Amino acid sequence: MPGRTAYFGLLDAGNPSPGETVVVSGAAGAVGSTVVQIAKLAGCRVVGFAGLERKIRYLEDDLGIGAGIDYTEVGDYRNALDDAAPDGVDVYFDNVGGPNTDAAFSRPNVDARVVVCGQISQYNDEEAATGPRKLGGLIHMRATVEGILVRDYAERYEQASERLTGWVASGDLTYRETVTEGLENAPDAFLGLFEGENVGKQVVKVADPSE
Ligand SMILES: NC(=O)c1ccc[n+]([C@@H]2O[C@H](COP(=O)([O-])OP(=O)(O)OC[C@H]3O[C@@H](n4cnc5c(N)ncnc54)[C@H](OP(=O)(O)O)[C@@H]3O)[C@@H](O)[C@H]2O)c1
Repeated sequence: MPGRTAYFGLLDAGNPSPGETVVVSGAAGAVGSTVVQIAKLAGCRVVGFAGLERKIRYLEDDLGIGAGIDYTEVGDYRNALDDAAPDGVDVYFDNVGGPNTDAAFSRPNVDARVVVCGQISQYNDEEAATGPRKLGGLIHMRATVEGILVRDYAERYEQASERLTGWVASGDLTYRETVTEGLENAPDAFLGLFEGENVGKQVVKVADPSE
């Protein structure tokens, strides 16, 4: 599911072209780490937001993205994005919302595409956010903002699965899992998503596969 979300969200809604800059929030997570790799395969320069240096190392050293931004360390998100994406943002794939998004919305190129996949930084907010911010910067650039739901692409799942498995087989697409042992630990594993404890897909192992 995360692979197909990345596939359709980036390639259909994001519509990246070679040479463009793709910025991804939640870049070291299940969806994000797939988006960054598909964006590279599409010939794009990729910048990823993630928390913690070990995730930046994963993104830059293992997945080979152009630049990672550790949002837990940068004081000014926008300056950090200016440095990491000096040519501006052509596609912003948003898994997170919040300050990552404020920064990306401040640096759009003409005809930029924003893919709203998730807003995890706001799921537990007790008060609703005051509304979309920084939209003014999108006007002059004629940017498009599109929410996506993976299930809307159900009729094309097979197409995505074929291409994704092909890339895995050829080594062009890799993935990580963070495995929590035992169903009794599922609540902690779930809560860990909101603390950024996972790299790649968080899974809970309840038993060995039956033979
Ligand atoms: N639209 C769809 O059809 C669809 C389908 C699947 C998933 N989604 C959404 O896509 C997003 C990614 O899903 P996923 O399964 O791949 O999860 P994930 O990225 O593997 O896990 C969540 C990650 O979000 C980041 N995060 C959590 N709280 C944050 C905060 N306050 N600020 C910044 N980053 C924060 C953490 O990474 P850091 O360490 O980097 O902070 C955490 O590891 C989620 O928002 C999910 O709801 C949408």
